[in-house]
Amino acid sequence: MTDFDIVLENAYKTYPDGTRAVIDFNAEIERGEFVSMLGPSGCGKTTTLRMMAGLEEVTEGRIFIRGKDVTDLPPSQRDTSMMFQSFALFPHRTVFQNVEFSLKMKGMEPDSRAHRVWEMLEMVGLHDFASRRPGELSGGQQQRVALARALISRPTVLLLDEPLGALDFNLRQTMMVELKRIQRELGITFVMVTHSQQEAMSMADKVVVMSDSVVQQIGTSREVHEHPETKFVAEFIGNNNLFQGIVKSRSGTMVFVESLGELFYVKVPSHIQHVPVGKTVWFSVRADLMHTGDHPDMANRVEGSYIATEFLGTLETDVFELAPGQYVHVEQHRHLSDSVRKMGEREFICWSAEAGVLLRDSIRPEDILGPAAA
Ligand SMILES: Nc1ncnc2c1ncn2[C@@H]1O[C@H](COP(=O)(O)OP(=O)(O)OP(=O)(O)O)[C@@H](O)[C@H]1O
Ligand SMILES: [Mg+2]
Repeated sequence: MTDFDIVLENAYKTYPDGTRAVIDFNAEIERGEFVSMLGPSGCGKTTTLRMMAGLEEVTEGRIFIRGKDVTDLPPSQRDTSMMFQSFALFPHRTVFQNVEFSLKMKGMEPDSRAHRVWEMLEMVGLHDFASRRPGELSGGQQQRVALARALISRPTVLLLDEPLGALDFNLRQTMMVELKRIQRELGITFVMVTHSQQEAMSMADKVVVMSDSVVQQIGTSREVHEHPETKFVAEFIGNNNLFQGIVKSRSGTMVFVESLGELFYVKVPSHIQHVPVGKTVWFSVRADLMHTGDHPDMANRVEGSYIATEFLGTLETDVFELAPGQYVHVEQHRHLSDSVRKMGEREFICWSAEAGVLLRDSIRPEDILGPAAA
């Protein structure tokens, strides 16, 4: 357990009014990792972060930092630092004094203090602004002061709650790169809460996707994007097509699922142990793995009516209706020679046997392996 900077073990938070904000949260965060917690408003991200920081009591479960059980320790004894969306800088103190504050509280000598502060101001690019007050800085500069202030005590873990939320789009792009650079240079573990997919996906080594107080999936950006494990993740991230159907039979790592009157090959991912025949399940097919036209080499085929096309550069997403209210998105490269489709035109849509992946939503928890079983 000592290789991990933070471990949450079956962590629950129920507020006094009965709100279950976090349910059975399990995660292992490695040293020096940049982790993003992503999910819609109210799903429990801030609550989880505050439990890590010690600002919120854990109702049930344990939290470890660097192998030490900190569940019952106050924030000051946890070696974490938190950066909030509202920076809460001291308005009457200079940038230098704002950053210096916590070292002063700790009773560090003025010389060593100054050395540390200058080093940090250099790191965040605020060397020339040391004597300004927060009101004389831009939003991005104020945000750097807040970051410097959170990092000056050299915490094991920096917890960031929507740190870029208050910034406009361009500044956010710049700060994303800056945050990542600083994190790399210092080698400190960052846990950042965001509801921006782009932020989470571009910065993090690992993404924790949450919804409705539970962890839906933990993985690299690529993993959650390419291999969604639940219906929520498949709908929330990327461009996926969802199907509901009944398991007809199983053969090795594949199941045959009946949906829309057709039989489809669906892959069973390795974390799902057992799928009973006759069970109603969900599966997902990425839009970029679907193809229009007749493809004899592809195991799955369905017919649909053309509805519309969305263009994005050289890619297009074609929308087809398979049955009333059931649409699929087919993402493919655009060929200039392609004839223009007419609304309502019938066309085949094909995908390979492996492209359809079983989701674990309707699978019994005891048939799911590992932390995903939450
Ligand atoms: N002090 C509290 N007392 C009761 N319920 C609370 C309290 N704080 C938060 N909640 C509730 O707990 C749930 C999770 O809240 P939380 O702040 O963790 O969500 P979040 O994912 O950070 O959302 P957002 O993206 O909007 O910041 C919400 O339903 C919220 O209303
Ligand atoms: Mg929040």
